Formats: sequence, structure tokens, C-alpha cells
Amino acid sequence: MNAKVFVTRGVFEQAIRFLADHVEVEGNATDRILLPGELHSGARDADGVLSLLTDRIDAAFFDACPRVRVVSNFAVGFNNIDIDAANRRRVLVTNTPGVLTETTADFAWCLLLAAARRVVEGDRFTREGRFTAWGPKLFLGHDVFGKTLGIIGMGRIGQAVARRAAGFGMTVIFHDTQPVPETVTRELGARAVSLGDLCRRSDFISVHVPLLPETHHLLDGAAFQAMKPTAILVNTSRGPVVDERALAHALESDQIAGAGLDVYEREPAIEPALLESDKIVLAPHIASASHETRLRMCMMAAGNLVAGLRGERPPNLVNVDLWQARQG
Ligand code: DGY
Repeated sequence: MNAKVFVTRGVFEQAIRFLADHVEVEGNATDRILLPGELHSGARDADGVLSLLTDRIDAAFFDACPRVRVVSNFAVGFNNIDIDAANRRRVLVTNTPGVLTETTADFAWCLLLAAARRVVEGDRFTREGRFTAWGPKLFLGHDVFGKTLGIIGMGRIGQAVARRAAGFGMTVIFHDTQPVPETVTRELGARAVSLGDLCRRSDFISVHVPLLPETHHLLDGAAFQAMKPTAILVNTSRGPVVDERALAHALESDQIAGAGLDVYEREPAIEPALLESDKIVLAPHIASASHETRLRMCMMAAGNLVAGLRGERPPNLVNVDLWQARQG
């Protein structure tokens, strides 16, 4: 196959070697995010692209790169890609689901525990040489065991987060607009509730929904007002699902007790009031960032790209309808 692919940013060497065994590989080997013009001119002659969530793959991209037949995103989320525009150009789009589930769930728990037990504040305090003696009220946090965990979005990652809650003896409630099989909810001992109920009843809330027009600002001022003053919010999904200004206000006015965020509304920019708050743990979008998982994601993205360029149905196809229309 003498197809040509463009890799938008420095990824794992193993994936580049795999690609090179099947296609001609070009791209940006550095970690710098290409400007739209650079991305468009780089991929102009490519048949396929291995993209990252930091690349905007939109109508302008497809106009500039008319040969592209497959866009393989190195991420499970694909809100950086305009799927309608891809469908109009008959471009297959793929993602990397499944392989990052457990790693992301681990990290949601990291944020939850760190925020509940004030780990980051305590670290800062200790490094600054301010730890002079054990204190009965030093850095009092919130217990996790036996509390209620509310999960918004009970897909793969939401379920993996729920599974871990059993070890903490928690009650698990969830909200999802998609039906969740009863076998799953029974196994997890989780009960479906409305979003309002979840906000009112949860001690910890973990968000695991994709970014869609319907989930934009799903957690807004009204949602924070409904939460317990001791509630802690964790978001490892997509930033715009949470209204950051409303969150900052909720933290400032003690409407909720804390938060742990891995993703941001205007990433990499962060609402200044959040940066100033001690009640929040902030991470740089690293929930899936373990050595093993990022390599698996990258190899999966490379495999999807090669399959699509061979004319096969890629294993992790996003725009399935396009494929079916093509076959019919
Ligand atoms: C994804 O895959 O969508 C994550 O946000 C990055 O790993």
C-alpha cells in the first residue's frame, strides 16, 4: 500500500514503526501543536491523518486536505473533529475507546481522594517548611468510605469508577440519558436517579459524559446550588461539561466543598478564580497518561488508520453510518 499518512505531533516510536511497515509516514515529530495553516499544509497530500485532541479537524481542514480518507484520533473523545464535515467529505473517523478505561478511572479516584483529603494543600504546606507539629485540626478533610458517590455518565469509565467504590463501602447512584443494562447496575449495586437527585444526594460527583451540545454546561450554577455544602466534584471528561465560572463561584461561596479537575472549559486556559482556590486540585489533562495506556492508545490509533486506508472497516470507527452508507 503506498498511501501516505501525516502524524500531527510526536507520538510513540513503536506506532511510527508500525505505520512505516504499511504506509509512507510524514509529520511533526516534535511535541509542538501545529498551527491550523501548518496542519493543513502538512496533511495536504496525505491519505490519512493520525490526529490528537489538540488538533482542530474541521471543514477548513478537509477543504485544505482533499485526499484525506481516514482521520484516526489518538483519544477516546473526538470533540476536536467535526463529524458532520467528515461525513460530508466521506472521511472515516476513528478513536481509541476501551484501552484507557481503567487508567482514567484510577485517576478520577486520585482526584477524588486528593480533594477529599487535601493532599495537594498538605504537600505544599509541608514543602514550605510549615509542618512544625501534629495538630488535632490540621488539614481536616472529608471521609470517603461509606459516603454516596454520584456518577454522571455510566459508560465504560463511569462503570469502572463505580466498581472501585465497592472497596470504600460507598452507595453508588448514577445519571445517564442512555439505558444502562440491568446486569451492569445490579453487579455494581448502582441506582439510576435524575440529575437533580444526584446533585442533591451525592457526597462525591464524578463526571464521565462526552462533550455534546446536550452536555455543554450540564453542571451549571443551578446544579451547584442543589449540591451539598460538603460535596466534591471530579471531572475527567471534557471541560465544557462544567461551567467553570459557576464552579468558581460555588467554591468561593461554600456551596460545595471542593473539586478535582483534569479538563478545562477553554483548555489550556483555566478560570483565574480556580487557580487561586485552595479547595480545588488541578491536573493537566493526564487521566489516561500512564506509560502502558498511552502506548496502547497510540498503537490502536495506528491500527485504525492502517485498516481504514486498506479499505477495511476500522475496528474503532466513530461514523459507522458513513461506512454502512458506503457499503449499501
Ligand atoms: C481522551 O482520550 O479523550 C482523553 O481525554 C485523553 O486521553
